Amino acid sequence: MKNTFGTNVLTTIFGESHGPAVGGVLDGLAPGITIDYEFIKKKLSLRRPQGQISTARVEADEFEIVSGVYDGKTTGTPLTVLIPNKNVKSADYEATRDLARPGHADYTGFVKYNGFADPRGGGHFSGRVTAALVALGAVAQAALEAKGVGIGTHIARLAHVSDRGFSDLNADIAALSDRVFPVLDSEAAEKMQAAILKAKDENDSVGGVLETVVTGLPAGVGEPWFDTLEGLLSHGLFSIPGVKGVEFGDGFALAGMRGSEANDAFRPSQGGVVTETNRNGGINGGISNGMPLLFRCAVKPTPSIFQTQKTVKLSTGEAAEISLAGRHDPAIVHRARAVVDAVTALVLCDALATKFGTDWLGGTK
Ligand SMILES: Cc1cc2nc3c(=O)[nH]c(=O)nc-3n(C[C@H](O)[C@H](O)[C@H](O)COP(=O)(O)O)c2cc1C
Repeated sequence: MKNTFGTNVLTTIFGESHGPAVGGVLDGLAPGITIDYEFIKKKLSLRRPQGQISTARVEADEFEIVSGVYDGKTTGTPLTVLIPNKNVKSADYEATRDLARPGHADYTGFVKYNGFADPRGGGHFSGRVTAALVALGAVAQAALEAKGVGIGTHIARLAHVSDRGFSDLNADIAALSDRVFPVLDSEAAEKMQAAILKAKDENDSVGGVLETVVTGLPAGVGEPWFDTLEGLLSHGLFSIPGVKGVEFGDGFALAGMRGSEANDAFRPSQGGVVTETNRNGGINGGISNGMPLLFRCAVKPTPSIFQTQKTVKLSTGEAAEISLAGRHDPAIVHRARAVVDAVTALVLCDALATKFGTDWLGGTK
């Protein structure tokens, strides 16, 4: 029953949607990393629900770092973040407490934890717990930025509306870092938001595809077999509730290409090596090749929808119908962006610590 991920930099998360708090622990992080509270706040605000396209449950996300930081720098001992839950309305869930929401983790959580799981608001399976991941990921992302590694994610597609692809990577990453609705093309952003509102009006929800780019990652990070960079990233990304697919580079489209199209030709550049194209997403043989990492996550439509659906009673297994109350996002794609950035940063810190040693990310006095 594990809630920890990583080999050298270990991420642990805890908490339930309607419990006193959610939080997380980062263990193995280098000493001497500067903690930028404003940066953490900004990242949390990008995950927070905003306006009509999101749930009405808005939490202030006031966080506290209760260990592992002294004089504004990491100490190298476990860093613990606590984020209290304040805007909790458990009464909304009382009527449907014994009913498994289709598409959600109520049934599997009930089975796994022998009926003892906290059911309120999805308990430990709630998207609320991702606030902790975002706070820890912000610490990791700031450390990576100081080492010249940039991470940016946009909504590549939502409800059949497509954004433009990445072009000027550094400019795109900078633009996305402040954008609550992370889309590069403003017209596409409007159409996507209209599609979310339409789904909401119809008591339904929509999903989409998030596309991430990582710049400045040195070549040689990752292991050849089980801890391939694709494997480590996928492991982290599939931990995000609602992520149902991950592909690297041209991903599934590579299967339909010829080798002559799929191969990224090498050429020398400024004393190093680059590839002419990046169809393999910056990874060969499980190891970074020095090109930008590029991957996509498929995020499913929010499972909690306000339509009557068939289900079963958890206590008896009898057939039943469920009509939900409560507060839910008509789409989680835009909010999941901050979580994808965070998980990417946490995985890369771990993989970089494996290659260069734990202290590489930090500083000395
Ligand atoms: C930021 C975020 C917010 C979420 N909010 C909701 C929500 O309001 N209602 C809901 O039913 N699911 C929400 N989810 C998704 C569920 O937590 C997820 O679908 C569920 O745990 C089942 O996991 P699975 O979809 O990975 O199988 C959210 C996910 C994320 C990442």
